[in-house]
Amino acid sequence: MTADSQKDIESLKAIGRICAETLRKMMNATRAGMTTRELDEIGRALLEAEGARSAPQKTYNFPGMTCISVSPVIAHGIPNEYVLQEGELIHIDVSAELDGYYADTGASLVVSKRDRNLERLLDATKATLAKALRAAKAGNPLNGIGRTVQAEARKRGYNVIYDLTGHGIGRHLHEPPREILNFHNPNDNRILNDGLVLAIEPFLTTGIGRVVEEKDGWSLRTIDKSIAAQFEHTIVVTKNEPIILTL
Ligand code: CO
Ligand code: CO
Repeated sequence: MTADSQKDIESLKAIGRICAETLRKMMNATRAGMTTRELDEIGRALLEAEGARSAPQKTYNFPGMTCISVSPVIAHGIPNEYVLQEGELIHIDVSAELDGYYADTGASLVVSKRDRNLERLLDATKATLAKALRAAKAGNPLNGIGRTVQAEARKRGYNVIYDLTGHGIGRHLHEPPREILNFHNPNDNRILNDGLVLAIEPFLTTGIGRVVEEKDGWSLRTIDKSIAAQFEHTIVVTKNEPIILTL
């Protein structure tokens, strides 16, 4: 959507804050020994307390409130009875709806441990997201986002995941503009407009950058079982710095 009223901006900020708080509290609660379902229940309680609805559940009948993926699964992991282990790399993605407005945010983290190798990947992905957000300026080409993500990933010694993309958001979880790639597509001539609401989500990996779906019909894992990380924010594009709704 294009946010073109103060009501749009305020409503988007409200659901953005709820998603950001839910993600932050879930990350802080993550411990070795808990199941991913227990972690999801924390997310459920937080979203329900705010009157927000899980976007993947509402939109796609996803069997969980949030997506919790344990490496090498990188996206759409189903919360279940799996017990988290110390040192594991996991990804939490929170998207929700309030009053007909949607926001989407995600982060990767290491369970109950410091790991220099994994933290290097997390830092690189976070920094790549920050650069990508700065490329999202009204009047700029949309493919500047992917070009920025790919260049930053390469500079830091990583590959991008080619199959996973950002997307328009706002009135639906996924809406036009679709396929905000994490690499440069020179044939994409779309231009970003003022007020456009986007979810930008770079995925960096040590592998070849392809994913496959697991037998559960949801979980997406790296095809070569390499490690990967994701950070995601929902933003409103402006002529200057974007408004980050999920900070
Ligand atoms: Co997401
Ligand atoms: Co998203």
